[in-house]
Amino acid sequence: MRKKICFASAAVLILLFAAGAGDQAVKVGDDALGTRKYDDFQKPTLCGTSCHVDFYQQWSQAMMSQCYTHHWNEIEYFKLAVPHAAKDPVVAGIKAGCNGCHSPMAFMAGDVPPPLPAKNSRANESVSCDICHTITGFKGDAPFNFNYISEPGKTKNGPREGAVSPEHVTRKSEFLGQAEFCGTCHNEQSPYGVWVKSTHLEWKDGPYAAQGVKCHNCHMTYTETYSAAMGQKHPDVRQHLFHGAHDPGKVRGTIELRIHPDIREAEPGDAVKFTVALFNQKTGHKFPTGSVEDRIVWLHVEAVDAKGKIYHLTVNKKGFEGEEYTIAGDTLAYQDMGIPLDIPSFPGVQRDGIPLGDRIFRLPYFDPQGRMTMLQWNTKSLGVDYRIGPRETKLETFTFQAPDDIPAGQLKVTATLNYQKLVKPVADFLGVPEDESEIIKVNDHSTFITILD
Ligand code: HEC
Ligand code: HEC
Ligand code: HEC
Ligand code: HEC
Repeated sequence: MRKKICFASAAVLILLFAAGAGDQAVKVGDDALGTRKYDDFQKPTLCGTSCHVDFYQQWSQAMMSQCYTHHWNEIEYFKLAVPHAAKDPVVAGIKAGCNGCHSPMAFMAGDVPPPLPAKNSRANESVSCDICHTITGFKGDAPFNFNYISEPGKTKNGPREGAVSPEHVTRKSEFLGQAEFCGTCHNEQSPYGVWVKSTHLEWKDGPYAAQGVKCHNCHMTYTETYSAAMGQKHPDVRQHLFHGAHDPGKVRGTIELRIHPDIREAEPGDAVKFTVALFNQKTGHKFPTGSVEDRIVWLHVEAVDAKGKIYHLTVNKKGFEGEEYTIAGDTLAYQDMGIPLDIPSFPGVQRDGIPLGDRIFRLPYFDPQGRMTMLQWNTKSLGVDYRIGPRETKLETFTFQAPDDIPAGQLKVTATLNYQKLVKPVADFLGVPEDESEIIKVNDHSTFITILD
């Protein structure tokens, strides 16, 4: 039915350019709460059923369509954030504010908290077509904390001049094509004024921004196809992939690894130093980025001797400040989860949950008491930023002390870089489904030395 309407009207030339009028009057960020109605926005099914079928299908399997409904968001928002907001006046604003990015429609409609995902309300539409395509700019010095200017209505912003649609008016917008647009949700400050998400800022400081490579080039890649079923072919149509940490294929190979020894032959009792070079060849920001409080990336090195015995090598300390957070330890953390969960003097759970002595690439977040936290909104300070920057190479060394009884022959030493979206002990404690804490192998590489008699 809708298809018919689309095709029938394709011939009609409606060229209307709505001016970005009214920008000044539009409230942004926290002030936008309750300034709109759900009905001001169109449903993704309307956009996607007959006209933008491909984009709709791409979007519906990307995290962008699940920002509100995804299991881990539901747990973090309803079990931790909402109860915490009721107990601590400093973080009270998050009860509404989380959805400024996760379900902008619900936020702007003043629906706080929105119905649970199981209720299938319009809050479930998450970051939908009409949210993005009616954003006209942002207010402030930097894009962050949903300071986008939302102007829902007949006019949809897109990349092209004179695109004709039977459904709506189109307007060419430079803003949607800029990284700052993404930054309105991909940069975040906690109520304590700490940057707890800075994907856009990391990008801006890195080599890709300087060379004009934007978020879109890697997450909305351009190809020759149609942008609407009844439209014409273009050489550079933006795919709505938004693939990131939830696409193992995107994560795999992000970092290239090479390991080499300082000597090729050793005798029992000798010390051999192995160096691992880790080169970030794929991300436009740091790795990990985004929800850095949850993510863990670690380097595991193992040797296997001629008889198949396995030795675990622990990383050599470099001696920088805060390094203890970057080496896997047998330590408890995340005690502040006890506040929203009503567990007085909660001892916490294991900080890392990975083999002791492995190198961790992370940025630790600290609560007001100075304990490591994964409640990003409760972050009062940050620790050492030991993540791998775009096109950065980090070197790590591991010393193998060959035991006196090691058999002669080949010793194979393998470095493996692993990634987990959510630290396992936290995932287990909160009952977050396993896919969130599955181990994704980013890369590995092996080298060999000979053990002499
Ligand atoms: C997270 C924000 C976001 C969401 C969600 C989103 N889009 Fe887009 N869309 C963009 C951006 C950014 C561009 C490219 C803008 C540019 O390059 O200037 C774009 C481009 C487009 C284009 C023009 C493509 C071209 O190259 O001609 C169409 C049509 C479109 N989107 C439709 C949709 C539909 C339909 C949905 C929902 C199924 C959707 N978008 C969801 C951000 C979004
Ligand atoms: C040169 C390519 C490139 C550019 C440019 C780039 N990214 Fe990425 N991005 C990646 C790769 C590869 C990954 C997967 C590895 C990872 O999770 O960091 C990724 C991951 C992500 C993730 C998932 C992070 C997580 O842990 O959940 C988000 C969100 C993201 N990018 C947003 C952005 C935004 C916003 C921009 C622009 C400011 C941007 N990216 C620019 C390549 C790029
Ligand atoms: C209105 C807010 C908003 C805007 C604008 C926005 N995003 Fe997002 N994006 C989100 C939220 C919220 C998530 C988190 C989904 C989740 O994991 O719950 C997300 C997730 C993603 C992911 C997936 C990460 C993963 O874990 O797989 C990528 C990639 C991404 N965004 C890229 C972009 C790019 C590129 C742009 C700009 C073209 C953009 N986003 C604009 C809110 C936004
Ligand atoms: C400024 C926008 C913004 C605000 C405010 C915000 N988020 Fe997010 N959130 C994002 C983006 C963007 C991502 C995706 C980053 C990434 O891919 O690592 C994300 C990711 C997440 C994730 C991880 C999803 C996953 O599957 O790994 C959870 C859980 C989450 N947010 C919950 C919350 C809660 C709870 C709040 C309120 C306390 C909140 N967010 C506030 C933008 C925001």
